[in-house]
Amino acid sequence: MHILVTGGAGFIGSHLVRHLLTVHPSYTVTNLDKLTYAGNLANLRDVEAMPNYRFVKGDITDAAFLEGLFTENRFDGVIHLAAESHVDRSISSPVEFVMSNVLGTVNLLNAARVAWDGAFDGKRFYHVSTDEVYGTLGREGMFTERTPYDPHSPYSASKASSDHFVRAFHDTYGLPVVISNCSNNYGPCQFPEKLIPLFINNIRHNKPLPVYGKGENVRDWLWVVDHARAIDLIYHQGLDGETYNIGGHNEWTNIDLIRLLCGIMDRKLGRDPGTSESLVTYVTDRAGHDLRYAIDASKLQRELGWVPSLTFEEGLEETVEWYLSNQEWLDEVTSGAYQHYYEEMYAGR
Ligand code: NAD
Ligand code: TYD
Repeated sequence: MHILVTGGAGFIGSHLVRHLLTVHPSYTVTNLDKLTYAGNLANLRDVEAMPNYRFVKGDITDAAFLEGLFTENRFDGVIHLAAESHVDRSISSPVEFVMSNVLGTVNLLNAARVAWDGAFDGKRFYHVSTDEVYGTLGREGMFTERTPYDPHSPYSASKASSDHFVRAFHDTYGLPVVISNCSNNYGPCQFPEKLIPLFINNIRHNKPLPVYGKGENVRDWLWVVDHARAIDLIYHQGLDGETYNIGGHNEWTNIDLIRLLCGIMDRKLGRDPGTSESLVTYVTDRAGHDLRYAIDASKLQRELGWVPSLTFEEGLEETVEWYLSNQEWLDEVTSGAYQHYYEEMYAGR
């Protein structure tokens, strides 16, 4: 079995690549990644020497490059994660999100369609998507696989569009596809522009913790390794053309999560209780900020037997431990260009 993973140098992709190489040692895994600011080969240091792992640097917006890659290799499957993934960046640079997330996905679908040329037996195109395509919830209810799409940010609109193209390739050409829509992930190797690693890094440096609006928005958090486990299960056992929601049944308002995180950080850094929380600074809300996400993952549990493996308290503790033990990783990714982005993003907020 030869699987092409796109975006394997990113946060979730690197956990997935490691999981596949470990759990399926007979598989070959090719990791295709453009290595944007979010792609980091250091995330895969521990597996890069494995004989069944290969890295290819490339851009999914380049159709000719993809055609060549699919001609040189006989991929049995594609697990597609490569994307621009940060909502705040999508607000400042929406076109980049259309290029990678929409055009890139269509190019990849087309390359697989042409290479497999109707011989779809044993083939699979797995598209990794987000719960953000469903829009926002009020205080009640959860997203199911039948919730109508209602994206609000350029990021979620680009992911929604890519999901539609994946289904269109299934319905039009018979391409064997499967899609999953997952809630917010957390864990090691997440780029520190997302809430949890950003706040860990800021607490470490005694910098303000910029809470958008009143901190009342709700997210449903999932341990990244549990996402990788779910993708593996769905890749192998999910039904053709189906969608599976993945989530932790783990809803937190941002401010409650931040308080929990601050408590763990005070303890780990030997600071007095309340020290980290005093860094909380309320800033102007994100434009179009979705109030609440909550995933109903009962289909995945019922049909494929998947359940999350860790409680949030355990996972957050492990996450903090990882960032504090890997400060050189944090320093490396927060230097240079990122610093410039960060200053621009929070200027005047
Ligand atoms: P990430 O930003 O950490 O990683 C994305 C990776 O894609 C990077 O390695 C980057 O270099 C690569 N990439 C970007 N554009 C590319 C291009 N044009 N060609 C080739 N490679 C390119 O993102 P992540 O958090 O790991 O998310 C991975 C996928 O999972 C995305 O599709 C995202 O929409 C989805 N997802 C993320 C979350 C989450 O909480 N992070 C939740 C649900 C779904
Ligand atoms: P984020 O990690 O960017 O994920 P997403 O927007 O995909 O859910 O943000 C998680 C929540 O935290 C979201 O409600 C926005 C909020 N947030 C802040 O309050 N401050 C910040 O600096 C960041 C990055 C996010």
